[in-house]
Amino acid sequence: MTNKNRFLWLGGKVMHIEDATVNVLSPTAQFGANVFEGIRCYWNEEMQQLYAFRLPEHYRRLKNSMKMFRMEDKYSIEELESALIEVIKANEYKEDIAVRQTVFIDGFGSWNSTGPVNMFIAPIPKSRMLNSSKTGLKCCISSWERISDKNISPKVKVGANYINSRMAQMEAIENGYDSALLMNNQGKVAEGPGSCLFIIRDGVLITPPITASILESITRFTIIELARNDLNIKVVERDIDRTELYMCDEAFLCGSAMEVTPVLSVDKISIGNELPGSITEAIKEIYLKVVSGEIEAYSKWLTPIY
Ligand SMILES: Cc1ncc(COP(=O)(O)O)c(C=O)c1O
Repeated sequence: MTNKNRFLWLGGKVMHIEDATVNVLSPTAQFGANVFEGIRCYWNEEMQQLYAFRLPEHYRRLKNSMKMFRMEDKYSIEELESALIEVIKANEYKEDIAVRQTVFIDGFGSWNSTGPVNMFIAPIPKSRMLNSSKTGLKCCISSWERISDKNISPKVKVGANYINSRMAQMEAIENGYDSALLMNNQGKVAEGPGSCLFIIRDGVLITPPITASILESITRFTIIELARNDLNIKVVERDIDRTELYMCDEAFLCGSAMEVTPVLSVDKISIGNELPGSITEAIKEIYLKVVSGEIEAYSKWLTPIY
């Protein structure tokens, strides 16, 4: 399917992507005044079903972002969900997709406008994170500090926050790395530009707490639960020092887009033997089974689209 044939949802209507336009003077266009969710849906060939992953959690976070951003609470959970289902069905997708659901400040206001509030929903095909030629990411510690709850909170998933991510990612690429890890204003490890971090030391899974200047990642909560309940791995949420990245046994990034992606080195210091570790692989395997509906016990996290 080319871009031309795609449909998205804007302001209550399903329309061709080319007909969906936004006012150039709107606060969303000028100042990044929008909050959004990146939602994954996975196609299960055997069941002939497309499953959206943890929709209620995404909508709870979206509504919290709107609340913190002082936006009018315009959409009910049911409206958010039925619009998403409507536009995916219009595209007749039978493959893995990523959906961006964005609530934005429209109109002719300024950076402090609270409305008019509008929404678009854009589903696009997206395959699994890593292709077979790449086993993981080589990361650096960014020279940019992660935004904090004292200035622009990383807990609010607002478009403008991604300027911080962009600075880190672009610097990393320019310097020959695949991605970056950002430290917080306390000098502890926070997260990647668009994903959360786990490290493994002596069989224990360690991840920064939600107060470490990170997004409250849905994948992070998912992995903590799967590791504890299904893989019998001890999980600790605590601050991580930079040097622990150099001496850990394994590390990986996680997120709706990132899924579970091994970190092979940090600042050119190898993690393990620069191959995905066994605990990371076990977590990745169960995660991908859960999201695509292969584990009955976790169907509670899936919303069937068709
Ligand atoms: C900065 C940041 N951290 C973490 C995540 C992962 O969050 P989630 O697992 O909810 O997709 C994202 C994904 O959007 C992100 O942008």
